[in-house]
Amino acid sequence: MSVHQSIKRITTHTLQQWKNEGKPISMLTAYDFTMAKLLDRAGIDVMLVGDSASNVMAGHETTLPITLDQMIYHAASVVRGASRALVVVDLPFGSYQANSSEALRSAIRIMKETGAHAVKMEGGSEVAESITRILAAGIPVMGHLGLTPQSIYKFGTYNVRAKEEAEAQKLLEDAQLLESLGCFAIVIEKVPAKLAKKTAEILKIPVIGIGAGGGVDGQVLVTHDMLGLNEEFSPRFLRRYRNLAEEIVQATGAYIADVKSRSFPNDKEQY
Ligand code: KIV
Repeated sequence: MSVHQSIKRITTHTLQQWKNEGKPISMLTAYDFTMAKLLDRAGIDVMLVGDSASNVMAGHETTLPITLDQMIYHAASVVRGASRALVVVDLPFGSYQANSSEALRSAIRIMKETGAHAVKMEGGSEVAESITRILAAGIPVMGHLGLTPQSIYKFGTYNVRAKEEAEAQKLLEDAQLLESLGCFAIVIEKVPAKLAKKTAEILKIPVIGIGAGGGVDGQVLVTHDMLGLNEEFSPRFLRRYRNLAEEIVQATGAYIADVKSRSFPNDKEQY
């Protein structure tokens, strides 16, 4: 789709306008061209090329192993399938934690090599300098607080975060810091609904939740979880809209049976 064609692209400004108007934002992960095309056709507002690709696409236990080059490959594929959605790309673990120069270089590579529209980074005050430099280069940044999977070995579990007062207070302070730095939105993951609602009420920028209740400005899920492709993962916050794992297994079984019985291909399915 060229810039001259008619589908209107969602921008960070659109999301801000929707926050002001109280209009919810829909966001899902995408990692490849075909899925991106389908999500875009369905009307998703934001596609996140999440580092959850490390789990659902590559089969790793955590998000830590995925590399910047691999994220760039996924993101470029998604961008080719997205005509309307805003495409946000996770900076993967190891591509921004060392220092702000490395963070900036990684963000620039993502923008230059993929055509995506924004980057997402986990953390609050710890990454403030990097966020400032990336924003100064004209790259929109989405923050990510609460359960931040790149720190799983620090947390020790994927349990709900910020249940205790001190961590809840730090989350609120970090959220306000990210807003003051100029982030256009933040994701908050797996925190008590009351805290998430309070954060969304205090912040002027959109707060998008995953496992954070309904009091926020938008919702994000991992597409493979939402479509029931990932049967092993069933946290309380997940709503499954289909059981595609079952459908794929059944369809594949039918294909195998047809091949074995020589009923595929038939006369019309050949040249
Ligand atoms: O990588 C990812 O999929 C994410 C979402 C869970 C927000 O960061």
